[in-house]
Amino acid sequence: MKVIRNGVIVTATDMYEADILIEQDKIAMIGKNIQVDGAEEIDAKGCYVFPGGIDPHTHLDMPFGGTITKDDFESGTIAAAFGGTTTIIDFCLTTKGETLKNAVQVWHQKAKDKAVIDYGFHLQIAEVTEDVLKEIPSIIEEEGITSFKIFMAYKNVLQVDDETLFKTLLTAKEHGALVMVHAENGDVIDCLVKKFLAEGKTAPIYHALSRPSALEGEATGRAIQLTELADSQLYVVHVTCQEAVDKIAEAQSKGLNVWGETCPQYLVLDVSYLDRPDFEGAKYVWSPPLREKHHQERLWHALKTGQLHTIGSDHCSFDFKGQKELGREDFSKIPNGGPFIEDRFTVLFSEGVVKGRITIHQFVDLVSTRSAKLFGLFPRKGTIAVGSDADLVIFDPNVERIISAKTHHMAVDYNALEGMKVYGEPITVLCRGEFVIKERQFVGKPGNGMYLKRAKFRPYQWR
Ligand code: URP
Ligand code: ZN
Ligand code: ZN
Repeated sequence: MKVIRNGVIVTATDMYEADILIEQDKIAMIGKNIQVDGAEEIDAKGCYVFPGGIDPHTHLDMPFGGTITKDDFESGTIAAAFGGTTTIIDFCLTTKGETLKNAVQVWHQKAKDKAVIDYGFHLQIAEVTEDVLKEIPSIIEEEGITSFKIFMAYKNVLQVDDETLFKTLLTAKEHGALVMVHAENGDVIDCLVKKFLAEGKTAPIYHALSRPSALEGEATGRAIQLTELADSQLYVVHVTCQEAVDKIAEAQSKGLNVWGETCPQYLVLDVSYLDRPDFEGAKYVWSPPLREKHHQERLWHALKTGQLHTIGSDHCSFDFKGQKELGREDFSKIPNGGPFIEDRFTVLFSEGVVKGRITIHQFVDLVSTRSAKLFGLFPRKGTIAVGSDADLVIFDPNVERIISAKTHHMAVDYNALEGMKVYGEPITVLCRGEFVIKERQFVGKPGNGMYLKRAKFRPYQWR
């Protein structure tokens, strides 16, 4: 047994001072001056106690862009835990012709003995054949995978056509799953990439110039239109721009089941980073790309007004040396992705709550609660309540610190937020009642993270 005392408990709806009694993996009691014999005492004086962060968008140990992401399930989840995240949902990739079951087994092998926090999988859909359609119910029922990912970009690699998206939307509706889309118009991007390369324009900035925000807006609108036609449900990942937010907001005002995620990088960095000299711009190459600064204000406004709903890290880390460098002569060969699993939680607190852009309850909803609801984990995760898993973050809001690759725990050789001053730090982090981070030290164990079978999608419950 453990008791957390003297902290201020903050959930998506409440804030109050109370003790939390943890028995085994669950929260057993919340109240004033809880008296129990033999419980380990944890002092949270001066700190907030938040529900453990849930990162709904990670890519660990993933082959991509001719290489493999630097962080695997061990380094990635250790970094996540240091950052206040106790659950991740990672994207399991599939290939055409392979059974879904096999693809999921491959991802289980990657995670099983390595994860230090809990994890689930989303399943990428590469094709919708009769065999795939037959397998989907068992993937939902037996594996508890209740979200499917469709890429509308990365032509000739991950991109699928509208028929596949539409059939996936219909199938998800029938069986109780949420469809996630990477919404960019991959065909037009491919034309622009070829045009720039033919003109000898090979520098990292052309990654951004070949993927204008209009193409994200178009794909977002198309996915929403198909969702409405299929009477289905849609979650748009890594929303970056005004055009896409406007489409999502419009869909919501029509009462459609459409949600949107953004990521810390789009809130604090802008397209000028891709223009940094000596190929340093490659550190900021991911998709969709960073945008002009004015889009940031639209994203913050959307978070504040409930037009965007979650914060994912889209953690997809590649070293600058040896990996990003694959694209020195050709921006289209730079592996797409950046390292954000560790800083997602604190950056949103610091830039959002401390700077007065969102409330502390919106913060909890965005980094934890809403993902638990949308992805079938609530109320087991995503809140602080009797009977919920004891996934807890003791967070000191008074710490001032500078983000740096010198001190981060991700395996990657740079930090895209290098030099950024943030307020707040997770001091102690528990996952299912066990310390993973104790007084800023990692005390967890690879393999302790548990695979999470998730409940079916229930739109009527979580709007
Ligand atoms: O550039 C990115 N975002 N890499 C990860 C894959 C994806 O598109 O989410
Ligand atoms: Zn994507
Ligand atoms: Zn991603």
